[in-house]
Amino acid sequence: MAFLLPQILVCLTILLPLSAVAQTNGNITVGDSLIATDNSSSWVSPSGYFAFGFSPYNGKDLYLLSIWFAKVPNRTIVWYANGDKPAPRGSKVELTADRRLVLTDPREEVLWTIPGTIPGIAAYGSMSNTGNFVVEDSSFNPLWESFNNPTDTILPGQSMGRGGMLSSRQSETNFSQGRFQLRLLQDGNLVLNTINLPSSYANEAYYKSDTTSGDSNTSTAGKELIFNETGYMYVLRENNQQFLLNNTQVGSVNDFYFRATLNFDGVFALYSHPKASNSNRSWSPLWSIPDNICINNLATKGSGICGYNSICNLTADKRPMCECPNRYSLLNPNDPYGSCKPDFIQGCEEDLLIPGEDLYSFEELTNINWPESDYAVFSNYNEDQCRQSCLEDCMCAVANIGGTNCWKKKLPLSNGRVESTGGKSLIKIRKDNFTLPDSRFPISEPKKKKQDPWTVIGSVLLGGSVFVNIVLIGAVCLGFTFKKVQKVIANSSVADMNWRRFTYKELVEATDGFKEELGKGAFGVVYKGKIQMRSTVLVAVKKLHSSFQGSDREFKTEVNIIGQTHHKNLVRLLGFCDEGQQRLLVYEFLSNGTLADFLFGDSRPCWNRRIQIATAIARGLLYLHEECSTQIIHCDIKPQNILLDDYYTARISDFGLAKLLMMDQSHTNTAIRGTKGYVAPEWFRNMAITAKVDVFSYGVVLLEIICCRRSVKMDMESDGAEEKAILTDWAYDCYREGTLDALVEYDEEALDDRKKLERFVMIAIWCIQEDPSLRPTMRKITQMLEEVVEVPVPPCPCPFTKTV
Ligand SMILES: *[C@@H]1O[C@H](CO)[C@@H](O)[C@H](O)[C@H]1NC(C)=O
Ligand SMILES: *[C@@H]1O[C@H](CO)[C@@H](O)[C@H](O)[C@H]1NC(C)=O
Ligand SMILES: *[C@@H]1O[C@H](CO)[C@@H](O)[C@H](O)[C@H]1NC(C)=O
Ligand SMILES: *[C@@H]1O[C@H](CO)[C@@H](O)[C@H](O)[C@H]1NC(C)=O
Ligand SMILES: *[C@@H]1O[C@H](CO)[C@@H](O)[C@H](O)[C@H]1NC(C)=O
Ligand SMILES: *[C@@H]1O[C@H](CO)[C@@H](O)[C@H](O)[C@H]1NC(C)=O
Ligand SMILES: *[C@@H]1O[C@H](CO)[C@@H](O)[C@H](O)[C@H]1NC(C)=O
Ligand SMILES: *[C@@H]1O[C@H](CO)[C@@H](O)[C@H](O)[C@H]1NC(C)=O
Ligand SMILES: *[C@@H]1O[C@H](CO)[C@@H](O)[C@H](O)[C@H]1NC(C)=O
Ligand SMILES: *[C@@H]1O[C@H](CO)[C@@H](O)[C@H](O)[C@H]1NC(C)=O
Ligand SMILES: *[C@@H]1O[C@H](CO)[C@@H](O)[C@H](O)[C@H]1NC(C)=O
Ligand SMILES: *[C@@H]1O[C@H](CO)[C@@H](O)[C@H](O)[C@H]1NC(C)=O
Repeated sequence: MAFLLPQILVCLTILLPLSAVAQTNGNITVGDSLIATDNSSSWVSPSGYFAFGFSPYNGKDLYLLSIWFAKVPNRTIVWYANGDKPAPRGSKVELTADRRLVLTDPREEVLWTIPGTIPGIAAYGSMSNTGNFVVEDSSFNPLWESFNNPTDTILPGQSMGRGGMLSSRQSETNFSQGRFQLRLLQDGNLVLNTINLPSSYANEAYYKSDTTSGDSNTSTAGKELIFNETGYMYVLRENNQQFLLNNTQVGSVNDFYFRATLNFDGVFALYSHPKASNSNRSWSPLWSIPDNICINNLATKGSGICGYNSICNLTADKRPMCECPNRYSLLNPNDPYGSCKPDFIQGCEEDLLIPGEDLYSFEELTNINWPESDYAVFSNYNEDQCRQSCLEDCMCAVANIGGTNCWKKKLPLSNGRVESTGGKSLIKIRKDNFTLPDSRFPISEPKKKKQDPWTVIGSVLLGGSVFVNIVLIGAVCLGFTFKKVQKVIANSSVADMNWRRFTYKELVEATDGFKEELGKGAFGVVYKGKIQMRSTVLVAVKKLHSSFQGSDREFKTEVNIIGQTHHKNLVRLLGFCDEGQQRLLVYEFLSNGTLADFLFGDSRPCWNRRIQIATAIARGLLYLHEECSTQIIHCDIKPQNILLDDYYTARISDFGLAKLLMMDQSHTNTAIRGTKGYVAPEWFRNMAITAKVDVFSYGVVLLEIICCRRSVKMDMESDGAEEKAILTDWAYDCYREGTLDALVEYDEEALDDRKKLERFVMIAIWCIQEDPSLRPTMRKITQMLEEVVEVPVPPCPCPFTKTV
């Protein structure tokens, strides 16, 4: 996920100032369109109250096709089309005859359109004064209305029949589908429920209107949810009686705007906002359901309102707040409403790791309960008996004492809440600080697709199977190395060297007081050293800059990940030192310098060796992206970071360090990682940073390998210096014009192998596409390099703006 975005999320609300608004009279005809830009115009209702068009979404380059209150200073969106597929700058929405509204990105790919199930040819569209966008045929019969396709908000005048639904967004500023729904069921009941994303499986409702019929009389069943023009909301029954959701006086429609929104945290609330422009009041809630979302939750499946192991506490404005218990922390630090994981190990196998009686203490919580996580109940137990029973039971995570009853609860805890009748809960906390070095070991299952490389995915301890835990512990305690690892490093001079922690003193000695400097990088200075094992092993000791100030635990976790990442095309980390301010990494020493020295030296290296090196780098990156236990995005692929060993095998270095540095800066800002000339354009666009940034850099390096020249060359004297200065542009020009001879400076070896040369250039052009989704994965790239699959003709790697 976009780790860049959270900070922006906090300061950016959806309520950006209104951009320039073009006025129309609510009459739009087929062929009319809007373009997503900073100051794009919009289609405004005759009253001027509502507008339809593009809203900025999470930064400058993404847009949401939406309807909003045009006169409310802070943009308040009431309907949106493409929450899951934000539209890039330059996208277009057009009213068309056959497909009604069509939203396309600058490459003309359809991001959203009205489902084509209703017959009829569209002729007009109008933004009505009620906030309803209507597509009409030539006789002004409505073909489609936004009111019939609500998102998370309904407006006065809007109603919802049986089967209708509101769906929450992911967070205040993220319009992807969220976990909560408001539905009018076929039996007439209006319910609020959570779903288990990404499926739409609905858990039991946490609110019910109970507007169903009795067994024999259907006339009391709800048939419609109505938000009437004067701001009252009720379920209309078959017998036309009204079940008012709340009878609070709402004020006059002449003075206020109203909206009812299913909030991202599951609370459905009616809001009003003064129409007067001189008022300094914003949206205020008039009423909300359910009354107490934390304790009204009836669902037995799913995590409840908050994530697993979390505790829901109601705030003064009746919204839920989620908190992790002491010694538990958020699984995804950017999602405060998500699940929590214990910061310690716990379980039947874990408890055997360090045999002893006295492993746990209890943290006492009053009036807090997880009512759905019991696995055993004992009656006539006093508190001491209950404590003892939980301490002695390796399955027990929490003991809850109510009267003379003792409930034992297991992980993951669900539906945690603050409630006055919650009794006393005792959470088991491990006393020592013993942790597994890493809960992200490879698991012998097929790999799951990695969505969010920067997030700690799935604590194994959190409901992980016993088997997995056994594997884990076996691995940690007995010093197992995985088979795969052993195979890869078998032919290495350091194969028998165990991953270890060094003392600072050892490293001072090894480097002879940091005497011989091998190089300086973005992360620190590298020194040559010698370590006495069974034989003498040459090492490269990297002294990290003092900017690596993250917590010890994070540092160790990350270094552990790097240490466990072994591949013949990666430089191996042998150990680390972490003493106070001193943080050092010890790598194996490679004798043959960097790829930069190799490529840009005096003589042109031979073509076949270059081919081998290009393929080797791709394999190393493939391993980092897809094959090691935790996906590692390098973020700084360049020839200076690729080393050559005695056999000229290319080995990638510095992997995993970008993450380390980023972690340290997570509370400040996230600077661009990487080196000019090699960094992917998304770094500058507030787009999600994915493994595709490495693919981009790889493409640049591949071109450098092909051409034996640097990607940016400023000091060219000969003709056409300017057009040749930027290798990526020059390469595409040569490819398009069929002048590869010039590109490789008439390199005979390469030209003799023309087919391969052309193939490699095409692959490189695919890698440097502006749009990350067009770039192939490293797996695809290795297949193309190895001629397992064909290479399609690449499009121009030009920026979006050039194609618009
Ligand atoms: C739109 O224009 C048509 C004539 O082109 C007119 O009949 C119709 O009343 C107008 N509708 C609105 C909402 O202004
Ligand atoms: C929109 O903004 C750009 C700069 O952000 C400006 O160059 C352009 O003239 C503006 N267009 C309109 C119609 O205001
Ligand atoms: C919204 O959240 C989803 C899921 O967490 C994520 O995949 C998506 O990138 C986010 N969208 C934006 C624009 O931040
Ligand atoms: C059925 O509905 C009618 C009309 O609302 C009402 O008069 C009658 O009492 C209901 N009968 C039962 C059994 O609820
Ligand atoms: C809206 O509903 C309320 C409550 O039932 C009612 O008093 C009011 O007259 C209704 N307004 C309209 C315009 O129907
Ligand atoms: C606006 O806010 C100020 C203080 O924040 C308050 O004194 C004033 O009464 C408010 N005006 C209105 C119209 O609510
Ligand atoms: C607009 O939104 C910001 C951020 O949510 C808030 O601080 C500010 O008070 C709002 N302004 C008005 C007039 O509602
Ligand atoms: C209506 O909402 C108000 C404010 O949330 C609440 O105090 C009141 O109890 C609600 N009334 C009903 C009938 O639910
Ligand atoms: C719940 O919130 C209230 C304030 O809203 C606070 O005083 C209380 O300590 C919170 N309870 C827990 C268990 O966090
Ligand atoms: C566990 O760690 C905390 C904080 O790092 C420290 O204060 C405490 O002494 C440690 N406990 C043990 C048993 O090592
Ligand atoms: C080690 O690798 C090199 C080159 O990759 C190879 O020439 C050599 O035979 C290998 N040695 C062993 C023992 O496998
Ligand atoms: C690379 O290694 C080989 C064999 O060890 C050696 O002959 C050669 O001089 C080295 N080249 C460089 C540039 O260090």
